[in-house]
Amino acid sequence: MPQNGIESVTVRVPMNIALVKYWGKRDEKLILPLNDSISLTVDKLTAETTVRMIPGVGKNTVEINGKQVELNSNKRYETVFEEALRLQRKRKDHSDSNGNQSVFYHFEVISKTNFPVAAGLASSAAGFAAIALGIQRLLNLDDVQANRLARIGSGSACRSMFGGLVHWKKGEKEDGSDCVAVKTDESNWTDLYCIILVFNDGRKKVGSSEGMKRTRETSTLLKYRIESIVPKRIEQIKEAYSNRNFETLAHVIMADSNQFHAVCLDSVPPIRYLNDASWQLIEIIEKFNENETRAAYTFDAGPNACVIVQKKDAKSLIYSLLQSIEIPSEDLKSAEEELKESFEFSTET
Ligand code: DP6
Repeated sequence: MPQNGIESVTVRVPMNIALVKYWGKRDEKLILPLNDSISLTVDKLTAETTVRMIPGVGKNTVEINGKQVELNSNKRYETVFEEALRLQRKRKDHSDSNGNQSVFYHFEVISKTNFPVAAGLASSAAGFAAIALGIQRLLNLDDVQANRLARIGSGSACRSMFGGLVHWKKGEKEDGSDCVAVKTDESNWTDLYCIILVFNDGRKKVGSSEGMKRTRETSTLLKYRIESIVPKRIEQIKEAYSNRNFETLAHVIMADSNQFHAVCLDSVPPIRYLNDASWQLIEIIEKFNENETRAAYTFDAGPNACVIVQKKDAKSLIYSLLQSIEIPSEDLKSAEEELKESFEFSTET
């Protein structure tokens, strides 16, 4: 509701974890991907965000977890705000008969995430999705417009606008009008859990955008991945999800995470996101899956792991992790508490 002319809305938006990864853009400005991707929404990891539209010309501000974002070096925010104002100008009530804006606005965004920002945990996804959703509510935008706003902030953000399994279609059109994310399965697989292991919560050395550009320009494997592998995997994930076939789902998830990191290594100079702890986790999961595939690891552009498991296997996985990971005894208790907390993370919506 407008108060003193200020329009304000608070939304809480979840992050998502890609099961088939987006890596590479065909248009950097509009953020149009080279390949389709598919993700699970992790509803317990959220960005709670207040978006305010303040009348009058002024400086846009964005605060994340108590820190002001330097907007000059993070142009994406301004791109989103400019697009929002362009859409707003189309609204009759804020423009004169020539379509010129009669009321100027600037934006204030205050966001709080309950997980590390920029540690390869797709945090920008939840953040930009929250801004897009907030602006959608303020300006009464349709879902396609909101999806586009989220996407031009950060590609993976357009997958955070829905719960469950979400398919982001790369589209074919130059203007990106057919590049949208859609929820694929009406019924969510509610007993899938994501256990997040944070091995390093610092900022990654090679950011996603820079990494994608390098891979697109230099990797010889990327073309093969995009043309021959990804389309099949998207279909396999959808089918496994709708049939609740965990084994197939897990195999595809792990294969795609590994291939994504392989194309990173195939870039020049090579990009290495996984660290020793990530590799140790891979070995633990391989062992855990020895007799039956009960867990799947996946890593984004960083060393931190997301392990997907069914509710029935979550406790024994946590037990295996506690037994296998070398944790100094003084840290064991807090690690146990953190893992128990992770156990609460589900993909329910
Ligand atoms: C490895 O969405 O962060 O997490 O579009 O440049 O903002 P930009 O990139 P971003 O990239 C995410 C890459 C990934 C895979 C994925 O989430 O699909």
